[in-house]
Amino acid sequence: MIGNRMEEALNEQINEELFSAYLYLSMAAYFHAEGLDGMASWMRLQAKEEVEHALKLFDHLVERGGKVTLKAIAEPEGKWGSPLAAFQAAYEHEQHITGRIHELVELAQAERDHAAFQMLQWFVAEQVEEEDQTRKAVELLEWVGPDSRGILMIDQKLGARAG
Ligand SMILES: [Fe+2]
Ligand SMILES: [Fe+2]
Repeated sequence: MIGNRMEEALNEQINEELFSAYLYLSMAAYFHAEGLDGMASWMRLQAKEEVEHALKLFDHLVERGGKVTLKAIAEPEGKWGSPLAAFQAAYEHEQHITGRIHELVELAQAERDHAAFQMLQWFVAEQVEEEDQTRKAVELLEWVGPDSRGILMIDQKLGARAG
């Protein structure tokens, strides 16, 4: 059985992960509107991953006799000034999520919840990857600047991401 504090914190994280999916879908819509279908496709895959993250937490609660409580998902931003600005926002968001995951790990330690602690190690590793991927996209876009040919090359490169 899972403790109340951990149960509540994991439910909050389910909301964070679903908001992440919503944010990346919003970015996908922005990229489609800009004619950057490769970046849109990258964001759509990212949104699917975020739903999977939410489901991992959902399953953990179910397996431990906890109660899943779904709260309203906040409205994401809908517009960014450039592809670089959108990926910068994604990178900043991932850093925020990493902070949340680390807080959950610390809570699991404080509560001596070894099962949650172990489950959360997957998220610790995943966040290293998530920050790395978004930071690399930011670096590529910084490299080409406003050059539209360069942006189209990055669009192709990001569009090649496998599902
Ligand atoms: Fe996530
Ligand atoms: Fe993420």
